[in-house]
Amino acid sequence: MTLGERLSEYVRAAFSGVWIQSHEHDDAILEIAQVARENGWDLVTWDIDRGLSINGQVPNSDITPAAADPLSAVKVLNSLGIPGGTTILVLRNFHRFLGSAEIVQALDSAISQGKQAGKIIVILSPVVQIPVELERLFAVGEHDLPGRDQLDQIARGIATEPGELPEGDNLCMVLDAASGLTRMEAENAFSLSLVRHGKVVPETLWELKNGMLKKSGLLTLHRGGETFDDLGGLEALKAFTKRALTGGRRGTGVRPRGVLLLGVPGTGKSAFAKALGNETGRPTLVMDVGALMGSLVGQTEANIRQALRVVDAMAPAILFVDEIEKALAGVQSSGQTDSGVGARLFGTLLGWLNDHESDVFVVATSNDISKLPPEFSRAERWDGTFFLDLPGQMERLGIWDLYINKFGLNPDQSCPIDEGWTGAEIKSACRLSALLDVPLVESARNVVPVSVTAGESVERLRNWASGRCLAADRPGIYVRNQGGMLPPGNPSHFNPSMN
Ligand SMILES: Nc1ncnc2c1ncn2[C@@H]1O[C@H](COP(=O)(O)OP(=O)(O)O)[C@@H](O)[C@H]1O
Ligand SMILES: [Mg+2]
Repeated sequence: MTLGERLSEYVRAAFSGVWIQSHEHDDAILEIAQVARENGWDLVTWDIDRGLSINGQVPNSDITPAAADPLSAVKVLNSLGIPGGTTILVLRNFHRFLGSAEIVQALDSAISQGKQAGKIIVILSPVVQIPVELERLFAVGEHDLPGRDQLDQIARGIATEPGELPEGDNLCMVLDAASGLTRMEAENAFSLSLVRHGKVVPETLWELKNGMLKKSGLLTLHRGGETFDDLGGLEALKAFTKRALTGGRRGTGVRPRGVLLLGVPGTGKSAFAKALGNETGRPTLVMDVGALMGSLVGQTEANIRQALRVVDAMAPAILFVDEIEKALAGVQSSGQTDSGVGARLFGTLLGWLNDHESDVFVVATSNDISKLPPEFSRAERWDGTFFLDLPGQMERLGIWDLYINKFGLNPDQSCPIDEGWTGAEIKSACRLSALLDVPLVESARNVVPVSVTAGESVERLRNWASGRCLAADRPGIYVRNQGGMLPPGNPSHFNPSMN
């Protein structure tokens, strides 16, 4: 729904206080001005820099409050408008002034009286921070990021010479790369691309987008060259995800949602998530859950909502939430320590996982299930919950080969005893061998596997996972499918070679 449509609805429903979360106020005001014109409403705007403007005109000075006075900006609404008409007062970045008791009271009165008088206050702000006194008076809406059509329009407005804008699939790639940007960011990115390359190319967009994601501090774009071939084993998981994302019954409305990966540290959970994007041609967004919890308690929910909005706008994409138990660490204790913020944050994330309509495939990983609340791993939330166990003998052989090759080691030497080793430990032995120029049996002495240092917790994890998760490395065998699709103990008919 566009901002204009949303606002018309609110006005028809006689809301007199509307809070719109927007990062692009000029654009939002353009949209509001258009519905105002269509409906014959008066539009008054105010900001601290330019003061008041009525239907685009600076009014004469007898009703103009001093530009810098936010209190008179609210009060002026009393003297504006005609009986029976509708007047919209748009206040930009007004969240800045809500620390004042006078202003809060003035808004309270104006919104309460505005209902009858057809006077509507619209606050435009990048955040939703409504003082408790006013919470029930505002309807909250969002000014959505531009969709593909709009990005296409923006690109055409900027790349006007022949050859500047690619066509067909290449244009799709440009629009994919631009999704998630605000209108102004997209404009800047297209222009920069023209200056640098003489045409619009996705690389410039990705670069700017990465910068923008970094600014938010919650999401980064992973741009590496990893593929599934860099990972030994995990055959069932590789086949499952690839099939869900690239094969499957497209067009049936069945959207892949994501997988939850549990496992021993160093078994390749993070590495897998990073490779999946390359394998399926989707950008991989990495969500930093630690940063999400934020230092400012009140900010956290706004943060996650904002991050999820960006994620939605970047679709089709992979969202990689690494070590998700970190975000949830506060959940179980919340109530005592963080006044329920952890639980609300978790609820927001769960809600989005369930409800998001965008084509975003989530890969969440966890090393410690004891910190995950049971509702998180519920089967219907994920397409599959996989357990990445210590690799078996065959997998380990594959991983040795991979790294012996990668680090240029002598392939004819004997391998150390590697019972209970993870992929990370094999990699580490090979790296050391290359670094110190010693045989593998020797470098392996410096590697202490986690199955030894943390044997008990590895065992606990395995016990928990057995019967609850799918095995990531054994093609054709599901330990058990929680959704009940396959009876416990039965070998599945799922065959990765079907790809
Ligand atoms: N099965 C595997 N094949 C190849 N490399 C692996 C494998 N498992 C782990 N590694 C390597 O070990 C390192 C640590 O793995 P990582 O994905 O961070 O583990 P996790 O997230 O499960 O703790 C990575 O560099 C990864 O490439
Ligand atoms: Mg990891």
